[in-house]
Amino acid sequence: MNMQNKTIIISGASRGIGRATALLLAQNGANVVATARNADDLKSLETEHANIVGVPGDVASETDMATVVQTALDRFGRIDVVINNAGYGIFKNVDEISVAEWDSVMATNVKGTFVLTKAALPTLKAQGTGHVVVVASDVAKRTFAGGSLYTASKYAQEAFMGALRKEVRPFGIKVTGVYSGLVDSHFHAKGHGHETSKNWLTEGDMAESMLFIVSRPAHVVIDEFMVHPLEQEY
Ligand SMILES: NC(=O)c1ccc[n+]([C@@H]2O[C@H](COP(=O)([O-])OP(=O)(O)OC[C@H]3O[C@@H](n4cnc5c(N)ncnc54)[C@H](OP(=O)(O)O)[C@@H]3O)[C@@H](O)[C@H]2O)c1
Repeated sequence: MNMQNKTIIISGASRGIGRATALLLAQNGANVVATARNADDLKSLETEHANIVGVPGDVASETDMATVVQTALDRFGRIDVVINNAGYGIFKNVDEISVAEWDSVMATNVKGTFVLTKAALPTLKAQGTGHVVVVASDVAKRTFAGGSLYTASKYAQEAFMGALRKEVRPFGIKVTGVYSGLVDSHFHAKGHGHETSKNWLTEGDMAESMLFIVSRPAHVVIDEFMVHPLEQEY
């Protein structure tokens, strides 16, 4: 799929779904501005494709995300797609979650999505075109014991997207929510490539999904993209 001359910003690109997506988009011709906190991982990603620029930063930092957006504009002159992918989870019962843990997950998953999207919106509005993607989760729509913190953060992303979609459609800006089930990334406590995750979605499956979502014709918007491994009940 041809992403030539498209500029994509993606958060959480140092590993997992974000890294695989950044690479596949670059391989399909996109200019990619990749951000995450780990500068060494971003440097290593840059060596994989000439179209990738790494900008280290915390997704919840307004200053860092302003730098990410400015880098995209300085290097490529426009922003076509913003993929809010950075995120993580802490899975404990409510009475075991510390306030610091609550604040930290909310800062990355919810505040981070807001901060990066807000930083890019003036450019997207001025262009009269753009696409905001949020990698939420199927648990943006269902709950489970031990998941209060993570699911609350994903439900918050869902609500954020719902309102944003209504605000920005008149400016020609698309909003897509990605709701995936289990993906074999670095997200899970047992780590990447564990025996128990061998039938899960791969990072490559997610990258291909993301490429499909962002490469639709201008008049087509995928509002919601739900994907699961066959072995997982939904
Ligand atoms: N894996 C699954 O089963 C699954 C299912 C549904 C949805 N998701 C969602 O998919 C997204 C990507 O997760 P993944 O599975 O690819 O996990 P992962 O392999 O652990 O990658 C998470 C990425 O987020 C970045 N990140 C975390 N905190 C950050 C912060 N404060 N600022 C900037 N970047 C930050 C990490 O980079 P640094 O540490 O370098 O900052 C890393 O690049 C998340 O939003 C997750 O909730 C995952």
